[in-house]
Amino acid sequence: MKESKRVEDTIAEQAYLIMHKHINGYGRLFGGQLMQWIDSMAAIIGKRYAQTEVTTAAIDNLNFRGGAYLNDTVVLIGRVTYVGNTSIEVRVDTYVEALDETRKMINRAYIVMVAIDQNEQPVQVPRLIFETEAQKAEWAGGKRRYDLRKERRREGF
Ligand SMILES: CC(C)(COP(=O)(O)OP(=O)(O)OC[C@H]1O[C@@H](n2cnc3c(N)ncnc32)[C@H](O)[C@@H]1OP(=O)(O)O)[C@@H](O)C(=O)NCCC(=O)NCCS
Repeated sequence: MKESKRVEDTIAEQAYLIMHKHINGYGRLFGGQLMQWIDSMAAIIGKRYAQTEVTTAAIDNLNFRGGAYLNDTVVLIGRVTYVGNTSIEVRVDTYVEALDETRKMINRAYIVMVAIDQNEQPVQVPRLIFETEAQKAEWAGGKRRYDLRKERRREGF
């Protein structure tokens, strides 16, 4: 059994400067570009957590709450919120950062990464240690989302 890990130690942050290549036809950050950044961050967090390769099983809940524009600084912050036996739920929040470094959230996403071995078979992941009330509440939400995902799969949609 691998050593348990604290939520705090799973946190990763990555910033991007929005350039022309990231912009869609009507001048905003292209949603697909942001989805790629979110998926990459979730994969890195998942790999560090599991210490194995991981694959994206599902993007569960991806909410665009606001836009980002040319020359904006966009910051992604991710963390592990829940783990099953072989799956890891990662939450990635995306912010636009102003010059005074205040941040406005523009997206929240939950991504399910599955730890896999050399034969691409799911393998067990470490247990997650949550220490604060917020982390405990997020774990409870994660458990609910995990159960709902299972139910959806059982029902075939
Ligand atoms: C993800 C994958 C490895 C799961 O394999 P599987 O044979 O279904 O394995 P299992 O049924 O034992 O499930 C393994 C874990 O994945 C989770 N899982 C599987 N499908 C899932 C889905 N659609 N949504 C959320 N979780 C899922 C299960 O709940 C289980 O988690 P747990 O062990 O924590 O309970 C397999 O479906 C796969 O390789 N999918 C393609 C992934 C991929 O290519 N991603 C990149 C897309 S370009």
